[in-house]
Amino acid sequence: MQKDTPEFEFKNRIIEPAKNEEEMDDRETEFSLRPKTLDEYIGQERIKDNLKIFINAAQKRKESLDHCLFYGPPGVGKTTLAGIVANEMGVNIRITSGPAIERPGDLASILTNLGENDVLFIDEIHRMSHNIEEILYPAMEDFGLDIIIGKGPSARSIRLDLPKFTLIGATTRAGQLSAPLRDRFGVVLKLELYDVLSLTRIVQRSSRILGIACEEEGAAEIAARSRGTPRIANRLLKRVRDFAQCDNFSVITRDIADRALKKLEIDKIGLDETDHKILKLIIKNYAGGPVGLETLAAAIGEETVTIEDVYEPYLMQIGFLSRTPRGRCVTDLCYKHLGFERPGTD
Ligand code: ADE
Repeated sequence: MQKDTPEFEFKNRIIEPAKNEEEMDDRETEFSLRPKTLDEYIGQERIKDNLKIFINAAQKRKESLDHCLFYGPPGVGKTTLAGIVANEMGVNIRITSGPAIERPGDLASILTNLGENDVLFIDEIHRMSHNIEEILYPAMEDFGLDIIIGKGPSARSIRLDLPKFTLIGATTRAGQLSAPLRDRFGVVLKLELYDVLSLTRIVQRSSRILGIACEEEGAAEIAARSRGTPRIANRLLKRVRDFAQCDNFSVITRDIADRALKKLEIDKIGLDETDHKILKLIIKNYAGGPVGLETLAAAIGEETVTIEDVYEPYLMQIGFLSRTPRGRCVTDLCYKHLGFERPGTD
């Protein structure tokens, strides 16, 4: 796999992907933990079933797969799935990201270097600039690249033929994609956060690959605290393994997982310090809400997009937070979990 950019963008937080140098080895193991085939891939059953059919049909026709858009929260397997698609199609994958393609020439060079039926994966495709997007339109539609030669009145455009390829775009924010770009994807798939059972199986699979024994209950404990996200589950597994090995335990049990995750300040349902900060702020300073996103972001010192993309999806999935037209509100369930009494209740 060729990688043009680091794939991850968020700040260093145990429930977020690695960014700094010390954690590069985590990134490497993350690659080795990634499933290579649809059969190895756990969860997202509906998406897998659909992809199997599309891949099978494209192979029978001896054609490239139609362009695909994968969207969903960070860490749910968009890049992994793109790698699997390429592997199942028996083609190469070229990986880049929207912000990494700075000039039209960058994209032109990537496109002209693709092989027949290859996969081009563009992560964070919603962050691609408009002038680059315009180069993609004829490339996606007609497998052509329009090049302008010369300047001023004598400038003329020539069209280069590109190999047939499959563009796989990934985004956390499908709504931010321009309509013309969105419409050019033949397959649009939404990846959901995972349930605890699927994450338990992912932790068991990863522990087998990492060569550390893990009881089912230990895996379930890690899974329950992984915010519905395989990438977090695998990172927590590696940290729990550190604790276990340090204390000379050869098997990860529920008790070891629980103790390790407590030390990492990850609570029983996977909330960390920042989640607690967000929720407590809404409870203490805004009587449970509503509070505007901008206000919330300023108060906890995070960017609004980070709150929307990283924190909120899970808090909403577990029913702790609701988005209303007037702002964010915490729910009764959240009050209960944090041990606060909602004003006006007995
Ligand atoms: N590792 C990360 N994501 C996975 C998944 N969906 N299935 C199996 N292993 C994984």
